Amino acid sequence: MHGSRRKLKVVLMTIMTAFVFIIVEISRSTSQNKNGHKIRIPTKPFWAKLTPNDAFWNRQQQKLDHLNNPILNGPNGSFGGVLPDWLNDTVVQDLCEPDYKVMTQVKNFSLLPDRFKDFLLYMRCRSYRMVVDQPQICRDQPFLLLAIKSLASHFDRRQAIRESWGRAGVLANKTIVTVFLLGKATAVDHFPDLSPMLEYESSMHRDILQWDYRDSFFNLTAKEVLFLEWFSTRCPNASYIFKGDDDVFVNTLLIINFLKGLSPAKSQGLFVGDVITNAGPHRDKKVKYYIPENIFVGRYPPYAGGGGYLYSGVVAHKLFGIINRVPLYPIDDVYTGMCLRKLGLAPEKHKGFRTFGIEEKYRNNPCAYKSLMLVHPRSPQDIIKIWAWLKDPALNCQ
Ligand SMILES: *[C@@H]1O[C@H](CO)[C@@H](O)[C@H](O)[C@H]1NC(C)=O
Ligand SMILES: *[C@@H]1O[C@H](CO)[C@@H](O)[C@H](O)[C@H]1NC(C)=O
Ligand SMILES: *[C@@H]1O[C@H](CO)[C@@H](O)[C@H](O)[C@H]1NC(C)=O
Ligand SMILES: *[C@@H]1O[C@H](CO)[C@@H](O)[C@H](O)[C@H]1NC(C)=O
Ligand SMILES: *[C@@H]1O[C@H](CO)[C@@H](O)[C@H](O)[C@H]1NC(C)=O
Ligand SMILES: *[C@@H]1O[C@H](CO)[C@@H](O)[C@H](O)[C@H]1NC(C)=O
Repeated sequence: MHGSRRKLKVVLMTIMTAFVFIIVEISRSTSQNKNGHKIRIPTKPFWAKLTPNDAFWNRQQQKLDHLNNPILNGPNGSFGGVLPDWLNDTVVQDLCEPDYKVMTQVKNFSLLPDRFKDFLLYMRCRSYRMVVDQPQICRDQPFLLLAIKSLASHFDRRQAIRESWGRAGVLANKTIVTVFLLGKATAVDHFPDLSPMLEYESSMHRDILQWDYRDSFFNLTAKEVLFLEWFSTRCPNASYIFKGDDDVFVNTLLIINFLKGLSPAKSQGLFVGDVITNAGPHRDKKVKYYIPENIFVGRYPPYAGGGGYLYSGVVAHKLFGIINRVPLYPIDDVYTGMCLRKLGLAPEKHKGFRTFGIEEKYRNNPCAYKSLMLVHPRSPQDIIKIWAWLKDPALNCQ
């Protein structure tokens, strides 16, 4: 009894001595570098004064970074606690009211194509009312949640997916849940009123999620943000998410096998797809992805093409946690790349994701699809045909 106490005392003394030694070493090394020179510790702020970027998106990012950094923002910050007008956003009305200030804040606003004007006026709005929800759809805790971006009028594409790679239920002993993400096909965009048919479809299949906003290309980023919010409340326990377009073929069997084979470390941080690196904004007005200089300057971070990518529930929660720190960008897959970069993550390229299609000569070769995870684009008929090939037990590929 007595002996073991003494042993304990000796051990404790040794540990304490070691600590003192470490602390002394740390304080020595912080005030002197290895050449014995004194290290100067700055007494005043040493960072450069922030100058507003001319490009609107970049400036909004500067603003968010600044407002979220208490040091830069405090009395000792770049502006001595008094924010210049371009950073001072204290008088904000409802974020979902059109923001008419952009008309003067964006250089040459009046010369922009309409879709940019619409985007900029509503860029701050991130919450739209949900009009169709499926609150119970994830009660069986899916292994894989398939979230498919669709448009109201794409009935045939959705049905083809339900009958093939996106069939909800159990596949390869794993639970699959499928949801289709929709906004509103509005009269402004000359869409016919399909709402009664959509209602019928929704009551038949109970897999439609719809929000009350205009479903346009530049609003796909809103769709991303709304989906992440929905995920975090309605489906937080899904292990993995595939998010993609409704005109892709997905080899769900291969994806499940791939996911089953991941190490726990790899699976947590998973984000794979057809990753594009070193890209930047298109400056040609005729391209769908055109972005003018007064909106964005700089390069894009690595991002996975929006045709379809696969990521873990852990990453989805992280993304949801960061979206308010990144201003909405008109191109949804680039936006997701920007959010990943903000998290210090990078998407990983997987050669099974073919968002740019495959060689024509393999188009009708069933075996070509066996080793691919995603092929874009494919028609509803192609989707059904390819799925039948893959499910055929007689299919023999070497
Ligand atoms: C600001 O700087 C002064 C002097 O460097 C320091 O005493 C003070 O604690 C700082 N205040 C804040 C809020 O960082
Ligand atoms: C922002 O502007 C308002 C109104 O002009 C002003 O009252 C407020 O002090 C400013 N805030 C900061 C942090 O400078
Ligand atoms: C605004 O448009 C005018 C006329 O097209 C052009 O000369 C000018 O450079 C533009 N300014 C900016 C900041 O883009
Ligand atoms: C199916 O999954 C369950 C639960 O994860 C597991 O216990 C069972 O062994 C699996 N069956 C097969 C055939 O893999
Ligand atoms: C996005 O949706 C909002 C709400 O419906 C709409 O006012 C805005 O014009 C849309 N933006 C674009 C770029 O279509
Ligand atoms: C998710 O899992 C947690 C912990 O297992 C559980 O408490 C929660 O109810 C689950 N949520 C849903 C929506 O299934």
